[in-house]
Order: sequence, then structure tokens, then C-alpha cells
Amino acid sequence: MNNLNNTKILLIICGGIAAYKSLEIIRLLKKNGVSIKTILTKSGTEFVTPLSITSLSQSKVYQDLFSIEDETEMDHISLSRWADLILIAPATANTISKLANGNSDDLASTVALASNKKIFIAPAMNVRMWEHQSTKQNIAKLKAYKYELIGPEIGDMACGEYGEGKMTEPKEIVNKLKIYLKNLKLKNKLKAIVTAGPTREYIDPVRYISNKSSGKQGYEIAKSLLKNGFETTLISGPTNLEINNDINLIKVETAEEMFQSTLKSLPADVAIFSAAVCDYKVKKTSKIKIKKQDEINLELEKNVDILDYVSNHNSLRPKLVVGFAAETNDLENYAKKKLGEKNCDWIVANDVSNGTIGFDSDFNEVSIFFKNKKIDKLKYNSKSEVSDKLVGKIIDHLN
Ligand code: CTP
Repeated sequence: MNNLNNTKILLIICGGIAAYKSLEIIRLLKKNGVSIKTILTKSGTEFVTPLSITSLSQSKVYQDLFSIEDETEMDHISLSRWADLILIAPATANTISKLANGNSDDLASTVALASNKKIFIAPAMNVRMWEHQSTKQNIAKLKAYKYELIGPEIGDMACGEYGEGKMTEPKEIVNKLKIYLKNLKLKNKLKAIVTAGPTREYIDPVRYISNKSSGKQGYEIAKSLLKNGFETTLISGPTNLEINNDINLIKVETAEEMFQSTLKSLPADVAIFSAAVCDYKVKKTSKIKIKKQDEINLELEKNVDILDYVSNHNSLRPKLVVGFAAETNDLENYAKKKLGEKNCDWIVANDVSNGTIGFDSDFNEVSIFFKNKKIDKLKYNSKSEVSDKLVGKIIDHLN
């Protein structure tokens, strides 16, 4: 996407060797038509010059909290209001500490404190600094204050050491901002529903049939939707996971409960069915605990297929319906078959024959099958990254 013509970003550059990469961030954002204003901290001037920033951003670089000239032109509050979002890259351990503690002793920290916009931070520091307990605590605070973290990455550092603390590459940072900005431009808040986790089909009050689903992928998708501005409802079978309070979480156990909750949560603009719903339920659930017997025969009957029902509903069907397919073999054939039979728009399919991805893993590798026969591969990555990429595609589609 190249059209971000009406969007504005305030970039705060702190003092670190990665500051030179901020110039590339400016170049990429300008290429997409973004208007940029920049704040350069005092230590930032040791690494990049205001002149090089201005040459690329084609606008003024703000440096001093107490500059009469700057305050007359655009005071620090207006500067924080002007932007659609703020990006701090690189964010040093010192700036992170200031933000976590609400300090406002320079222009960068004052603007961040006064901001009513989303603030993205791309940390860059030595691995020991990143791993230090104080930094960890500061980052946890920033997350609680709803700052959005990008990176850092693991790799060789400028200081010669190796580990986590490298700033994420400019292209990756810009891609994340693009997803957020694109959704900001959508007029009304879009509504999303996600089903996740397993279901339990009770045999008696203490026994049930279920499956290995952890719900992790669905929870990560709900988080990505929320951070991209969707009003998000997560309908979840039993899991050990926690979720942000801003997500409307509906806890269910059985497929029937998941079905009823899904119907109650509609209409929506997009529905993502990532739950591993049990295909069968016990025909007659015993009200009392069944005692041991030599042989027991369970009679099973089919559960309602929630995806199929919603996808084929005349009035309730969301604009975009995404199904999942976890397969151990013939992935492409089954995915295409489900796409057609269940009448959904996309099927996100993964191969669960190898234990390192899919069920209960923190990682995934999926292929998205589209109605127009196109197939997109989202390569092996954390479930959170896979979700961000999937949600990026959802936003592109809804746009
Ligand atoms: N699904 C659903 N309700 C069901 C069963 C499945 O909503 N009762 C949804 C899942 O959430 C997923 C998709 O349908 O998005 C595919 O589910 P899957 O279990 O893989 O497909 P099935 O049609 O059950 O086929 P099979 O088990 O034979 O692979």
C-alpha cells in the first residue's frame, strides 16, 4: 500500500547507534506519502544530525522543550495532538525508563506523556541492558500503559556482543505502522468475532471428549485485531490463557454454547473461526457419574458446524468469513474442499503432523487459501507474528 497521504507520524529519535536506521524509516514513510515531524533527543544528536533528518523528512526537527521559537510555532501539546501516531525509534533504556516512570524532563518524554495517541516503541540497546530486571519492569509498565512494542530482535550488536536488543529493521517497523494507520483510516470501528480453543462434549458430569487445541492462535488473532482498532469479541473454549480486558471474552465449554454465543455476537464485519470444535457430542449425557462397567458404548451425534452455519446464513454472514483447517495430510486438497463446502472466504490451513507447529505450540506456519484460488504462505513464525500478518491481510481486504 502506498497511499498514506493523509497520515501523520511524530518520530522521536533517541541516542543510540541504531539512530542511523531512523533515517531509513523516514525515507520509507515519506515514500508512502506520510507527513513526518521529528523530535531528536540531546543524545540523539550525537548519532544523527538535524540537517540529515530535515533533508529526508522535509520538515523541522524539534529538539528543545524550552525553545521559544519552537513553542510559538507548535507547542509541545499541539505536537502530540498533531500526529496520528508516535513512533520512538530507537528507544533507549533511558527513555524507556523515563516513560515508565512518567518523567517529563525533555521534549521527547513530555510529548509522550501528553500524548493521546498510540505510541509505538522500537527498543535498541545492549543485550545485558535489555535483560536487566529494571528494563524488564519498565517494559512491563509500558505494556500496561498500552504502549505498543516493536522488537527488539536477536542478533549481532554494534558493541560486538550477541543477543536480544537489536532494533527491528526499518521495513518491518514501517509495515507494522502501515497496518495500524490503514485501520485508523477506516471510518467506523469494525467489529470482529474470533472463536478459539477446544470444546468439551460431556459424557457425564466429570468426563468429556475434547482435543489438544490450546487456543493460542485464536487468542493472538484477537489481540492483533484489538490493537488494530477492531471491536473484538473472543468466544473461547476452555484454555489456560489470559486476555486483555478490552477484548470482550465469552467463555464457553460445549460446541452448542459456542454456537449460541456466536449467534448472539453477530452481526460483525469479520468472523474468524479458529476454534477446534468437537465434531461430535454424546447423544445422551448422563446426569450422574457413570460407574465402571466391562464395556461401555457411547452414542455420538454430530455437532452443529458453526462456521458452515454462519457462512451460509443470508442475513448474519459477516463481510469476511475465515475458517481454519488443521490437517495431518493432504493439506491443500482438504483446505480447498473446506473452502468450497463451508462457503467461507478464506481458509487458514496448517500442517499439524509435525509437533513443532500448530496445536499447543507458540509457533505456526500457515497457508491461506482464497476463493479466487490464490494461496499465500505465512512462513514459520511466532503465533503473534502470524496473527499480525493475517490481520494485515484482513484490513487490506476490508479496505
Ligand atoms: N468448525 C466449526 N464448527 C464445527 C466444526 C468446525 O465452526 N462444529 C470450524 C472450525 O472452527 C474451523 C473449520 O470449521 O474453522 C474447520 O474445522 P475442521 O474440524 O478442520 O473441519 P471439519 O469440517 O470438522 O472436518 P474434519 O474434522 O473432517 O477435518
